[in-house]
Amino acid sequence: MIKTYMRKDLQNYSPYHAPEKPYEVKLDANENPYTHDPEVIQAMKDWIEDCEHMRRYPDTDCHRLKEAIAEFWKVGKDEVICGVGSDQLIESIAKVFIEPGDKVLMPAPSFSMYKLATTLNRGIAVEFSLDDDYQYPIDTIIQTYQEIQPKCVFLCTPNNPTGSSLAIKDIEKLLQVMTCPVVIDEAYGEFVDRTMIDQIDKYPNIIVLRTFSKAYGCAGLRVGYGIGSKEMIEALHLVLPPYHLNAFSQYMAKTILEKYGHYKDNVKAIVKEREALITALSTIDYVCKVYPSDANYILISVSRDDIVKQLEERKVLVRGYGATGALANCLRITVGTEKENKKLIEVMKTI
Ligand SMILES: Cc1ncc(COP(=O)(O)O)c(C=O)c1O
Repeated sequence: MIKTYMRKDLQNYSPYHAPEKPYEVKLDANENPYTHDPEVIQAMKDWIEDCEHMRRYPDTDCHRLKEAIAEFWKVGKDEVICGVGSDQLIESIAKVFIEPGDKVLMPAPSFSMYKLATTLNRGIAVEFSLDDDYQYPIDTIIQTYQEIQPKCVFLCTPNNPTGSSLAIKDIEKLLQVMTCPVVIDEAYGEFVDRTMIDQIDKYPNIIVLRTFSKAYGCAGLRVGYGIGSKEMIEALHLVLPPYHLNAFSQYMAKTILEKYGHYKDNVKAIVKEREALITALSTIDYVCKVYPSDANYILISVSRDDIVKQLEERKVLVRGYGATGALANCLRITVGTEKENKKLIEVMKTI
C-alpha cells in the first residue's frame, strides 16, 4: 500500500546497509583499532559531567570546530564545512548540484555513497572503470568527461575499496579539463599523507572531504568535514539541516584534532602493520592477488567463494563483494592491531 505512494524511482532502490554480526576480530569497516589519547578520554568524561551541555542545542554553525580545522589546515574558517560524517557532505553536494537527469561522473568500483546520493537526487551516475590493477585511467576519464559533460565529478583517493590513489599531478591534469564541481574524497588521506587542500585557491571548483572516522578512530561520533573555496562552502551550507552536528561530537572532534601527535603515531603503526599484513596474506594458498594499498585496508582476490562465510563462522569479520562484478571474489580487509592481524592469518590458514 505505502509503496504505491512512493517515488517510482525509489521502488527498487537499495539503501546502504551494514548488518551487525557477532565477532571477535572486526576488520570489515575500515575502522581504527587503536585507543585514544588519555587526555581525550578525560575531556570526554569532563563533558559528560556537565549536564548543561545536553539541555542546550548545539552550535548550528560548528564555530569552534571549524576554527580548529581551519587552523590545522591553514585555511580560512569560511573555507570549512562540517557534517554528520563525510556521508552527510556527499549527500549535501548531491542535493546542491544535481537536478533530475544530470550526469555525475564517478569511479567504479568505489565508495557506494556517490551513486546512492546521485540516485536519491534523481541524477544519473556515469561510472568510469578503474583499470585491471584498479588504478585511475586518467586519459579515459578525461575523454568520458568531455563526452558526457557531467554536472559533478567524484574522485576517491585513496579509493575505497581498492586502496589505489591518485598522484597530485594526475588530479591536476584532470582539473585542467574539469570545470564543474569536483569532489576529492580524502577519507583515507592521512594514510597516504597527500592532499589537495592546499590547492583550493587555485581550483575553486573542488571540495576536499575528510573524516574523523578513520585515522582519528571516531566513526561512532560521525564527524566529517569539507574544505573548499568560500563560494563552494556557502553553496553546500544551503542544504544542511539546522543543528546537524551534535554538541558532543563537535567538542570531541576539536579536542582530538588538538592531540594530532597521538593520532599521527597510530597512523604510522597502521601503515607498518599494513605492510606486514600484505606479506602474510601473500603466503595463503587460496589468495590469488594482494593489491598494494595506500589506506588502512587491503583488497585481495581469492580462488574460493566461501571465505567470508568461513571467517564469519570463526568470528572474524571482513568485507566481501560476492562472486560477480568488478570485485568478483575480492575481500577488503581492514588493517587491525598486530594481535588482530595475527589472529586473522591464523584463522585463514585453518580454512
Ligand atoms: C571513501 C569514503 N568516503 C566517505 C566515507 C564516509 O565516512 P564518514 O561518513 O564516516 O565520515 C567512507 C566510509 O567508509 C569512505 O570509505
